Amino acid sequence: MKVTQLDCLCVILLHLLHTAGSERFEVLGPTDLIVAVAGDDIVLPCYLKPSISAEDMTVDWLNLDFKDDRVFRYQNQRIIRDDQIPSYIGRTSLFEEELWRGNTSLKLTRVQGTDEGHYKCLIQSKSWYDDFTIQVLVEAVGSKPVVSIEGHREGGMGLLCESEGWHPQPELVWLDSKGVHLSAGPPETHRDVKGFYTVKQHVIVQETNTNRFTCRVQQSRINEKMETEVHLPSELFYTTPWRMTFIVLCCLGAITVIGLALAIYCILNKKDEIRKEKDDLWEKNHYLKESFYDITVQREILTSQLDFVNTNWSPDVETIRRHAVNVILDPDTAHCNLILSEDGKQVRHGELNQILSDNVNRFSNWSSVLGNVGFSGKVYYEVKVEEKTEWTLGVVIQSINRNESFRPIPNKGAWTVELKNGEYTAHADSPVTFTLREEPLKVGVFVDYEKGQVSFFNVEARSHIYSFTGCTFTKKLYPFFNPGGSDSVSLVICPVDATD
Ligand SMILES: *[C@@H]1O[C@H](CO)[C@@H](O)[C@H](O)[C@H]1NC(C)=O
Repeated sequence: MKVTQLDCLCVILLHLLHTAGSERFEVLGPTDLIVAVAGDDIVLPCYLKPSISAEDMTVDWLNLDFKDDRVFRYQNQRIIRDDQIPSYIGRTSLFEEELWRGNTSLKLTRVQGTDEGHYKCLIQSKSWYDDFTIQVLVEAVGSKPVVSIEGHREGGMGLLCESEGWHPQPELVWLDSKGVHLSAGPPETHRDVKGFYTVKQHVIVQETNTNRFTCRVQQSRINEKMETEVHLPSELFYTTPWRMTFIVLCCLGAITVIGLALAIYCILNKKDEIRKEKDDLWEKNHYLKESFYDITVQREILTSQLDFVNTNWSPDVETIRRHAVNVILDPDTAHCNLILSEDGKQVRHGELNQILSDNVNRFSNWSSVLGNVGFSGKVYYEVKVEEKTEWTLGVVIQSINRNESFRPIPNKGAWTVELKNGEYTAHADSPVTFTLREEPLKVGVFVDYEKGQVSFFNVEARSHIYSFTGCTFTKKLYPFFNPGGSDSVSLVICPVDATD
């Protein structure tokens, strides 16, 4: 068979036509934009016309809002994950089983705010390419606004409204109960990584009739709105003074409590001090009373002594000495510690305990001895006490208790003066203690039975020592001698020489 030139040309043309026909294609998609609800899965349609296989072609999905990177790429029969926009990772796929039909639609899962935009479906073969662009809108209705009370602000009540999860960006408005817009602070908008919007806005509201306020968040493109109404109790508006009052009261209360505590502390302290002072004073008072009593007693005694001296005693000792009697000690009455001279004129303290005859008359309470004769008239005798540091002289009734320990006082039948520890004590019913300017070397004892007086004199100085006055004697009086235990010097009964 002969091949003509025309035939050849026809074959070439046919071949060219075939080749051209197999290489050329159109990329098509939907003419309307695609509205995606956030969170849904969507398909972005794209296909070849004629419906030739795209298996050996390169399929690119681009989001035109992102410059360099891709949403998705299929090339060399593989999915190319390099250079993928991070927000699309894991959410995109082709229907690979549909590629042979020229179906290059993209499946996008879990739509989010950032997905909104213009998508280009670009398909390239070795010798041809074409593309188609689809617009995708994302709609997301946010959360119901949350209103929080922020407290007192600039003379009103501060409120904050917040709503999240919107797309596209919504508008937030504050309204009063009549629907009138309230002037509020600048709106604050935040877009999260998924492209959803959070809006919030502060407002300061004044008290109204209703105290009802509404926060409305609206998105006109998607024709959605969400609102929250709050009702503020009117007391809330008065909490400033209340709070102030409360704070002031608290402060006052605290101050009062502190003050009271201090006061109580002080008072208690003071009270203690006062109590101590009172105790001290009481003690002092007591002491003073006692002292005063003592002084009173002593004054009385001294007064009576002075009276006596002035009225009864003349410096003429000689008169008294005329009543001198011869006193001899009665050894039967002598305490076992005492040592008497043989003439019965001296007595001293001896350390030894003498074994003496049992005698009811003997002193066992005091180391004492009596004169052997009792008197009921005027009596005078003198006793040498020179160098002695301790003695007791005077007169006692015969029946004086000689066994028990007691102070020898008039009440018990004793009128005595004692020297001990450098002090003289007249054993009156209340003891009278005194010191003498001149220590007597010889003591004269004078008794006026009728007058009821017992007087003691410093013989050398011719001075008065002490007198018991106003006594009532009903029994005979016996001279009483106690040489004391602190020295062993004798008490010596001296002969009285009227001319001495
Ligand atoms: C592509 O394939 C998917 C899955 O079968 C289908 O939903 C879609 O409608 C197809 N698109 C076109 C343009 O054929």
